[in-house]
Amino acid sequence: MKIQTVETTPFDDQRPGTSGLRKKVKVFQTPHYLANFVQSIFNVLADIEGQTLVVGGDGRYFNREALQIIVKMAAANGFGNVMVGLGGILSTPAASCIIRKYETYGGIILSASHNPGGPEADFGIKYNTANGGPAPEKITEAIFSNSRKITQYRILDSADIDLDTLGEQRLGNMRVEIIDSVSDYADMMEQLFDFDAMCSLLTSNSFSMRFDAMNAVTGPYALEILENRLGAPSGTVLRGEPLADFGGAHPDPNLVHAKELVAVMMGADGPDFGAASDGDGDRNMILGRDFYVTPSDSLAVLAANASLVSGYQQGLAGVARSMPTSQAIDRVAAAKGIECYETPTGWKFFGNLLDAGKITLCGEESFGTGSNHVREKDGLWAVLFWLNILAVRKQSVADIVNDHWKQYGRDVYTRHDYEAIATEGANALMDQLRARTSELTDQRFGDYIVAHCDDFSYTDSIDNSVSSKQGIRLLFKNGARIVYRLSGTGTEGATLRVYIEQPENDPAKFAQDPQQSLAELIGLSASIAKIKDYTGRSRPDVIT
Ligand code: G1P
Ligand code: ZN
Repeated sequence: MKIQTVETTPFDDQRPGTSGLRKKVKVFQTPHYLANFVQSIFNVLADIEGQTLVVGGDGRYFNREALQIIVKMAAANGFGNVMVGLGGILSTPAASCIIRKYETYGGIILSASHNPGGPEADFGIKYNTANGGPAPEKITEAIFSNSRKITQYRILDSADIDLDTLGEQRLGNMRVEIIDSVSDYADMMEQLFDFDAMCSLLTSNSFSMRFDAMNAVTGPYALEILENRLGAPSGTVLRGEPLADFGGAHPDPNLVHAKELVAVMMGADGPDFGAASDGDGDRNMILGRDFYVTPSDSLAVLAANASLVSGYQQGLAGVARSMPTSQAIDRVAAAKGIECYETPTGWKFFGNLLDAGKITLCGEESFGTGSNHVREKDGLWAVLFWLNILAVRKQSVADIVNDHWKQYGRDVYTRHDYEAIATEGANALMDQLRARTSELTDQRFGDYIVAHCDDFSYTDSIDNSVSSKQGIRLLFKNGARIVYRLSGTGTEGATLRVYIEQPENDPAKFAQDPQQSLAELIGLSASIAKIKDYTGRSRPDVIT
């Protein structure tokens, strides 16, 4: 077996976005494209000789081919050991768990998260550091700079490894270990939650749940934990087999893309509890019978009830949310007298706070919730957290959330996405808003007076790094907010996200449809930013 040095030329579009490098499969299949990026990762890492790397992905189309390239490149670049998920599969939170548990050097995760899979769809790759979390911007920017000047990469000339047999193999001087991440991950969940109480709930005749794995990576983890360890009846896990194209589904757990589950849940006779997770297993959606819990509310409810859950009984050090996430969690933090940090969008910003022990729980409005148990958001973990709360409180999901609103008040919230719009129009829309921040401050729009308007900038309190241009915020005097930002994960044109939120303390209005309660603010969000003029669109594609 021989190390080959392959001459190459740079690609100019390998800057990682909100969560790694995401492109169409066809782009990743371009000769040298993936190898250039992987070599750029290895080039910016120090002292990789003899180290251990974790590699796995969400099983989408091109996962296995990409994995073979990466493993051969790891061998040629001097890694001593790689740990690979069986079948090339690792959910994103399981990858984080493995990196931490076995104290490895880092890991490469292959995923385009909730984006569709298949030959015409999306693929992605990201690097996670030794803490198990996504590499911070300092590293992702260094990888990007390296990708702009790369001239060669190293790869072992060898046969493919066998991805489907547990145990050890050799690749040149490197050891390859095919691991079963399901048991490591399930063991960790068993440490955090009260499996006895949850088992009693799941095996009682008066409770039923459905978990929709959306033909994506969480299936095997959910089957092991919910059906095997917790004894839920078979059939509790829906679409539990990971498929390379997710069965043609869009594996994003929201009201639009998980509509089959929503249909099952939305009736007087529906199951008590419903949940879904995304392509790579880090997102979650929580439903009760005839009831949808927004991700922002879900985070707040978990924080408010954490003392009921054994793994969190010792209390929360602090909490954090991404800037566009609703302020529901702020209310809980204020009541508990703990700090609530506001970070830019993307999980990588929580890493330093978690590592420093400043926060225990964190989350994003985009169906992401997590804690200090790993350094990624974790879909199934959030579902088990809810299940543990349900097992202790013995109330319905709707009652728990309604009680929560009565105690803390409600932040009525919605996000409107305008997808695949022209990049120039999207950039121009953001530029004009940015130019108008001081002009907008103090302006009155009907009952809404702008108290503050800026382009959000974040200074990390641990390493003092600054991330600017993170979204235009309009903060109104009555506590309402409108936030505009462009997606950093899309692969087609641009996606404008508009986040709209308003506090509501009157319980009589809690039951109203948020689209109605927020109608005036939604109208303002479109007119203030001149969305139609810049994008040609008069309504959003996805509302969550
Ligand atoms: C989206 C979400 C963001 C999340 C990211 C990765 O990023 O908005 O909260 O961290 O996916 O799952 P965006 O496309 O908005 O940049
Ligand atoms: Zn994901």
